[in-house]
Amino acid sequence: MSKVHELNHPLIQHKLSLIRDKNTGSKEFRELVKEVSMLLAFEVTRDLPLEEVEIETPVCMAKTKILAGRKLGIVPILRAGLGMVDGFLNLLPAAKVGHIGLYRDPETLIPVEYYCKLPSDVNERDLIVVDPMLATGGSANAAIQFIKDKGAQSIKLVCLIGCPEGLAAVQKMHPDVDVYIAAIDEKLNDHAYIVPGLGDAGDRLYGTK
Ligand code: PRP
Ligand code: URA
Repeated sequence: MSKVHELNHPLIQHKLSLIRDKNTGSKEFRELVKEVSMLLAFEVTRDLPLEEVEIETPVCMAKTKILAGRKLGIVPILRAGLGMVDGFLNLLPAAKVGHIGLYRDPETLIPVEYYCKLPSDVNERDLIVVDPMLATGGSANAAIQFIKDKGAQSIKLVCLIGCPEGLAAVQKMHPDVDVYIAAIDEKLNDHAYIVPGLGDAGDRLYGTK
């Protein structure tokens, strides 16, 4: 069974409240999503392995640590996942970015794929799939399955807001994928929107609707 990490740092919770507020406009919404994503990136990389190196400071030789292990990849689920990419790249500038285009059919709620472009060495990277919302879990499950089919072996999922239904769906289909999430809300409504949630993440990021 995969682990669910609820990242309830005070700064994350504070910014999430502003993000949820319906009076927050697209410009501020985008900035806040980027800031929270940076904080999530900090938390999700806590377990990255380190190796010792020897360097020369202006004062003396010193044994210090640098990142070791596999290279990283960030995989936003389009469109709303795009809003999280810059925050992650700020902390992980060497990561490559793959894109998966999915939208949730409003009638069936089934995710429809329209784009997929991943780094060619996806099987050698630790991949972080990012999407602000984990509602039914259909989109995250489909995206994770796509990248597994392309050879990905190490995947984490990072979301801003989820709900018990979405978490259960991902844990059932992908028990090897740990989930990092800023808030687990109460439930889904009849239109499969998260309650209380933040509304439609893609529309709020890009001012559509
Ligand atoms: C939203 C969100 C997730 C998905 C979550 O995307 O960004 O990808 O819904 O819902 P689910 O867990 O029930 O699949 P949407 O389909 O609205 O597309 P968009 O990002 O292009 O707006
Ligand atoms: N997608 C969103 O953008 N918001 C929700 O609450 C559910 C799915």
